[in-house]
Amino acid sequence: MSDVNVTKICCIGAGYVGGPTCAVIALKCPHIKVTIVDLNQARVDAWNSSDYNLPIYEPGLEQVVRETRGRNLFFSTDVDRGIQEADLIFVSVNTPTKKTGVGAGFAADLNFVEKATRRIAQIATSSKIVVEKSTVPCRTAESMRTILEANSKPGCHFDILSNPEFLAEGTAIADLLNPDRVLIGSLQTKAGKSACRSLCEVYANWVGLDHILTVGLWSSELSKLAANAMLAQRISSINALSAICEATGANIDEVAHAVGKDTRIGPKFLKVRSVGFGGSCFQKDILNLVYLSESLHLPEVAAYWRQVVEMNEYQKRRFTRRVVDTLFKTITGKKIAVLGFAFKADTGDTRESAAITLVKHFMEEKALISIYDPQVEHEQIWMDLQEAAPDYAPQQIKKQVQICPSAIDACHEAEAVVIATEWKEFRKLDWQAVYDNMSKPAFVFDGRLLVDADKLTKIGFKVEVIGRGAPGTEMTI
Ligand code: UDX
Ligand code: ADP
Repeated sequence: MSDVNVTKICCIGAGYVGGPTCAVIALKCPHIKVTIVDLNQARVDAWNSSDYNLPIYEPGLEQVVRETRGRNLFFSTDVDRGIQEADLIFVSVNTPTKKTGVGAGFAADLNFVEKATRRIAQIATSSKIVVEKSTVPCRTAESMRTILEANSKPGCHFDILSNPEFLAEGTAIADLLNPDRVLIGSLQTKAGKSACRSLCEVYANWVGLDHILTVGLWSSELSKLAANAMLAQRISSINALSAICEATGANIDEVAHAVGKDTRIGPKFLKVRSVGFGGSCFQKDILNLVYLSESLHLPEVAAYWRQVVEMNEYQKRRFTRRVVDTLFKTITGKKIAVLGFAFKADTGDTRESAAITLVKHFMEEKALISIYDPQVEHEQIWMDLQEAAPDYAPQQIKKQVQICPSAIDACHEAEAVVIATEWKEFRKLDWQAVYDNMSKPAFVFDGRLLVDADKLTKIGFKVEVIGRGAPGTEMTI
């Protein structure tokens, strides 16, 4: 059996993973026709929009789409045609944490993966390589294989590969163009290895072979969860230490720098850059790992990883308490400006954003909150707050929260500014003008180590920085 020469790729799911990944494949493989399909008409329309008003904000993405769309990159809602035509199909649908039923709050909801897989089986009239791209629990590929084999037509053969995506939002295009590694998992059979070589050929158009790792299916699936869990664990570790810093007057930046100089540890992901980590992956994947460990009767392993998420929640609660304590132990009726709502800069994504939890806490303290974010759609903010605070009627939320068109507007007459996302524009803000228009004393709580605290202090602000004690903090133990 010779290896399939991939000339047509279909990607099911035009989201944060499928969109950028397949756009870059189209860019680097002009000989391959890449069709990205999605059931969501509005999303597909946005990808096809003549003014390139793409559905996701990602630096560099528009340029890639401009170069490839209509050449060898196509967006469509015709899922069946996409499946029918392709040699290789990426499944890049969403896999959120289950909200109800068995494993609620921990396990991944595989409903979308299953539906897409069943559709492939139903529609395909020729053999396909099916690639699991979404982050999924271990052994999902096995379930996909069972579904495909049980439903395939005579003469149709399906090979399943796992090819998890390691891109980070905000740097997706750079990560895709120059990945640390591409990981491909396959069954260690003749057919599995052949499918693996076919996908390797696609990546080899721009990724060196020494960066393409081929492993077993389950190792590949577990590696993705493990990588995210270990990255998140570093953040929780440094956040735990930041609590000690704030209580003692030590500076977490100095500690992280000193620790990261050890080449065995390294400097990356040791920054208290946020009030706890957010994003669609870290929490979801760790909870997945917890669920997997429990299912495998490994309670100690489950408890170990669960603590990483608990520390993250603690970090957010701690930050809220600091705001309340500093504002003379009450924020009832006080205006708090929240700058940034996305889970990190350079994305409009709000999934698991710490800002959601902070605003919810502020609402519970009966504060008035004004929010500004340069990328997040207002509708998304309302949806996130309603989901986070289901007991609040929409009118109640709108009584306490307003969304502003600029940072300056949000800060007008506020008692405190909370920096929740590290957008560059907040660093360049006219902080003197912000100060002049605020109630006094004017507080800034920097949850992202973004602003020049000394400069702001000189203007007159009282500045509180995450991971650092308030000025003059003494060691009290
Ligand atoms: C992450 C992984 O990095 C990526 O490999 C995987 O494919 C998906 O999940 P992403 O969530 O997009 O990517 O962004 P990332 O840059 O990892 O940031 C996640 C969160 O951690 C953000 O809230 C960020 O602010 C926070 N963070 C990151 C820190 O608090 N400190 C750090 O040092 C780094
Ligand atoms: P991710 O961050 O994993 O890319 P997103 O939610 O951004 O997740 O994108 C997943 C996309 O998959 C959504 O646009 C959704 O409409 C699409 N999708 C889900 N199920 C199917 C399906 N069965 N067929 C086609 N598209 C699907």
